[in-house]
Amino acid sequence: MERRNIQVLLANRPQGWVQESDFLFTETVLPSLMEGEVLIKHLYLSLDPYMRGTMNDAKSYARKVELGQVMRGGTIGVVEATKHPDFQENDLVSGYFGWQQYSIFNGQDVLGRNVRKISPKDGIAPSVYLGALGMPGVTAWIGLQTIGQPKAGETVVVSAASGAVGSVAGQLAKIQGCRVVGIAGGKTKCDYVINELGFDSCVDYKAGHLAEDLARATPEGVDIYFENVGGEILETVSQRLNPFARIPLCGLISQYNEISPQGFHNFGALLTLRAKIQGFNVQDANTNLWQEAINELEQLLLTRKLKYRESIVDGIEQAPKAFIGMLKGKNFGKQLVKLT
Ligand SMILES: NC(=O)c1ccc[n+]([C@@H]2O[C@H](COP(=O)([O-])OP(=O)(O)OC[C@H]3O[C@@H](n4cnc5c(N)ncnc54)[C@H](OP(=O)(O)O)[C@@H]3O)[C@@H](O)[C@H]2O)c1
Repeated sequence: MERRNIQVLLANRPQGWVQESDFLFTETVLPSLMEGEVLIKHLYLSLDPYMRGTMNDAKSYARKVELGQVMRGGTIGVVEATKHPDFQENDLVSGYFGWQQYSIFNGQDVLGRNVRKISPKDGIAPSVYLGALGMPGVTAWIGLQTIGQPKAGETVVVSAASGAVGSVAGQLAKIQGCRVVGIAGGKTKCDYVINELGFDSCVDYKAGHLAEDLARATPEGVDIYFENVGGEILETVSQRLNPFARIPLCGLISQYNEISPQGFHNFGALLTLRAKIQGFNVQDANTNLWQEAINELEQLLLTRKLKYRESIVDGIEQAPKAFIGMLKGKNFGKQLVKLT
């Protein structure tokens, strides 16, 4: 049976904000499977902020995509046909197979973390392995545990708090006995962060009085700032740091579409307070640490101590629009594209 594969290619390198015209759709006929190959039909594509960096011809924390190449992206899919002994039909497989409906995979790196067979436990939906139990969840775990190193009673502030990474980081800090304050855009997201995720407080940075609201929400200062956003929010939180504060620098989403990104100015606070800011990339963590994080997060999810939320659009045709929307905060939880 002839199978057609719709792919999304990088058509232009955006200057400033991404446009839908920066992407190009193409349709190809999939070749027949060769010995040792696996045909994977993708169920979901993950849309993540790092993809904005892959569109630039410049150094970013993610490797760039060449013009005319398929956009990089995490997927979860099902094996539809196999000529590889390690894969059976209907196996679930996650990997960085990109913005496309199908992949033909030669089975290499099956034990590495980039391509993994997934066995969802107790009815966990496959899509969750791209969110709370996938790269974003592991990012939250690694940034918080290895750099933040929370202690019970400390105050932890998390930006982009309703999103894929921030929601997990805040819930983990709460489980460890911290006072947790989220920062999110709008009342609906803030209500969710408090009422559903269980944070102690949440500041709506769009309300127009961030410094005052943050001061009210952090009467004892800030011991850990899990940074996802950068710009004015980073400057403002840095005014509230306590001595020996830690800032896991996870992302700077407010700056990804800026032609002249805003730097960090309050270096004096780091010196005066003996505070630490450390960038990290989840891909640097070894396979054992990834597995430790996923096991713990899976356990918390199964015991209902970890909650998550997804924004799902239907069909690969929606991917560019949904991606641009996510960069503008239109998503509410982990942004996914349903591909079948
Ligand atoms: N270092 C790593 O290894 C690693 C791995 C994964 C992700 N990350 C980073 O982690 C961060 C969060 O990623 P995610 O996947 O969890 O995305 P997400 O939070 O699910 O979605 C992005 C969110 O960013 C917020 N945002 C967008 N523009 C903003 C602005 N100008 N000011 C403040 N907030 C803004 C929006 O929330 P609001 O509506 O609340 O504004 C939006 O919903 C990103 O910076 C990403 O690059 C880093």
